[in-house]
Amino acid sequence: MTPAFHYKNGRLYCEALDLHAFSREVETPFYIFSKSELENNCRQINEMGKGLSFLPCYAMKANYNPTLLTIIRDMGLGADVVSGGELQFALKVGFDPQKIVFAGVGKTKEEIELAMKTGIHSLNIESAQEFELVADLAGTHRQKVRIALRVNPDIEAHTHAYISTGKHINKFGIPEREAEKLYLKAAENPWLEVAGIHIHIGSQITTSGPFEDASKFMREFAERLKKQGVPITFLDLGGGIGINYHNNFKKDEPTTYIKDILPVYLEGLKSPGMELVLELGRAVVGSAGILVSKVLYQKETPQKKFLIVDGAMNNLIRPSLYQAYHEIVPLMDRYKSSQVYDVVGPVCETGDFLARERSLPPIPAGEYLAVVGAGAYGQALASNYNLRPRIAEYLVDGEEVRTIFKQETIEDIFNRFER
Ligand code: LLP
Repeated sequence: MTPAFHYKNGRLYCEALDLHAFSREVETPFYIFSKSELENNCRQINEMGKGLSFLPCYAMKANYNPTLLTIIRDMGLGADVVSGGELQFALKVGFDPQKIVFAGVGKTKEEIELAMKTGIHSLNIESAQEFELVADLAGTHRQKVRIALRVNPDIEAHTHAYISTGKHINKFGIPEREAEKLYLKAAENPWLEVAGIHIHIGSQITTSGPFEDASKFMREFAERLKKQGVPITFLDLGGGIGINYHNNFKKDEPTTYIKDILPVYLEGLKSPGMELVLELGRAVVGSAGILVSKVLYQKETPQKKFLIVDGAMNNLIRPSLYQAYHEIVPLMDRYKSSQVYDVVGPVCETGDFLARERSLPPIPAGEYLAVVGAGAYGQALASNYNLRPRIAEYLVDGEEVRTIFKQETIEDIFNRFER
């Protein structure tokens, strides 16, 4: 199968769409998504869970465009939400409430009540005080709530410090000993249906080692609870499976690590009658989207060569925030030489870059480049910094392309202010 993003006669295509020709018709920068890549990622995840009691959920934080959510819903995935806003979006696009899980360290009373009213798969509690609030609300409303506790396993995920979540220095989850006590307490509360254990150790994890540690932890903890009479019926394994931010155009390179990691993770945990829940964000949508940007200027100082492009940190903050690497490629592959460039945007910050010290062809002003693997945590983290409107998102399905997010205008932004 031809990969969703590929070169044909030296031109970059998204499915059957010539991206160079398309870029000349629309405003840049923009995000563009491949429906087939998105579906393919969902299909791979579903296949890994065959024969298991399996609920893969999509972590909506990665990208909450309703059109993409609808495709993901149609592929049978549930939704992992971390705010009342995400819960409302999930319901609006028709996710089955029974397939929605809700975690987050700072849920408000209103968010907990909304989740209770909706009757979701599970509310994942992250602290002793939240536990008390949920128990109080359930009693007051005389409504049973299905819960899991998010346990902090103190496992090293070997990823960037900002997206590592499973160590005791992180704000997430409840340490094992304290969680054990809360489970025993919950089992005695008639308004709490204690059903699951939840963990999530981090994001963009590219090897199976940390997941093996996580699955061992879950297995042992579930056993211990069961022995004490706590009825654990599901394990929510979190997300965190990474994607390949390098070499996306080599045919033998995978775009995600779903196949490399997921079987190992699930294998370690399957047991009769136990439902396995996942919360994958990046692995679902990351490889399905790219950011297309136009070169505005080339600029040289005694020490550096810059490609100044119209996309910036307000569109894709990952390089600035996590020193993240995204492959950058020209839309027209017709260059014979390369130079070392910093690819920078127009935003007034030295930290505004899409790549540093990157060997790239000398793409001239007016020509385009693509920042690859930008489907997750790209537009979702976008801002209006420097009064730059949020950019359009397009979806490609074969030869067809349609707008799925209309570019904001300065008027839109201005009109949102009270004057
Ligand atoms: N479940 C929980 C509880 C999470 O905190 C996260 C991500 C996920 C699932 C989904 O993780 P994924 O499968 O996408 O790795 N903005 C950062 C990533 C932040 C991830 C936060 N939590 C980035 O651009 O790398």
